[in-house]
Amino acid sequence: MMTRRIKALDRETIREIERNALAELEAAEDAQALEAVRVRYMGRKGIFRDAASLLGKADPAERPALGKALNAARNEVEESLKGKSFAAPKNAEKRRAFDFTLPGRPAPRGRLHPITRTIEAVKDVFGRLGFEIAYGPEVELDHYNFEALNIPADHPARDAFDTFYLRPGVCLRSQTSTVQIRTMERRRPPVRILAPGKVYRPDTVDATHSFLFHQIEGLVVDEGVTMADLKYVLHQFARGLLGHDVGIRFRPSFFPFTEPSVEVDVTCFKCNGKGCPLCKRSGWIEILGAGMVDPNVFGHVGYDAEQYTGFAFGMGVERIAMLSQGIDDIRLFMDNDLRFLEQF
Ligand code: PHE
Repeated sequence: MMTRRIKALDRETIREIERNALAELEAAEDAQALEAVRVRYMGRKGIFRDAASLLGKADPAERPALGKALNAARNEVEESLKGKSFAAPKNAEKRRAFDFTLPGRPAPRGRLHPITRTIEAVKDVFGRLGFEIAYGPEVELDHYNFEALNIPADHPARDAFDTFYLRPGVCLRSQTSTVQIRTMERRRPPVRILAPGKVYRPDTVDATHSFLFHQIEGLVVDEGVTMADLKYVLHQFARGLLGHDVGIRFRPSFFPFTEPSVEVDVTCFKCNGKGCPLCKRSGWIEILGAGMVDPNVFGHVGYDAEQYTGFAFGMGVERIAMLSQGIDDIRLFMDNDLRFLEQF
């Protein structure tokens, strides 16, 4: 690099300036270094300016020749500077012509998982019926999954709601009915809640079984609640979810925490009740279990069973999503295969 200040101008000095300038130019490895060289030699306070100002001090006889030599050197460096450039890639991109006729790049849009969509649809209908949303833990005490739901230890009904244990007394909940108990423990009637969430069962995975699935629980407790209210609410729900003309029917059933208990069917949404393979020619499809809250359950949460009555219901989200969307394998919900998920 040329750091020495020039004191007097002669041919040798001019040649040296040129040599150095060209060498530094050659060594510049990016646009920034190149610009530094340009400023040092060609700038307002640059070396060529310095040199030119010394011309006046030179021997008058030598002056024209030196001036010429200096100009030539300056032009040489100038040309070399022009010849070398580092175009910033950003600028190159900007200068490229834009083709307005090209089709746009589609921005991929996300969407909700079919299970989430089903839960949202059910929440929506019950929201309009005045239900509030409640949640409970997935890791649960035995007490909430069984005892308080009127399923004592060693009772055969435990089999139907068998689950995974983390240690004695602590399990993964196998039903959202646990949220019934947790809600009633916390507050007095009137209660009107809807509790969606994950449940776990030690089932071998196949097209209709999974160790993890979703349920939506409902609970209503107040003075004077009857089975007619249960039937009305579930009919409104079925119509809200599946359509105005959908009918429901109750069939007797058993759950330890409801008495009486029912299985609830809706008009087959595939054949409209005429009978088809989906509804096994019955015209009806089972969508949930329900019943009047068993007085023993009220006993566990300190509600007066003489003063209050209530109903509860529980549905399997995967089952509803599969039946209503014509999905034939529950494993599809968890495979994370976009070809499946993008259809919803
Ligand atoms: N918890 C029951 C099940 O898992 C469903 C149910 C809920 C039935 C509430 C009656 C009342 O099958």
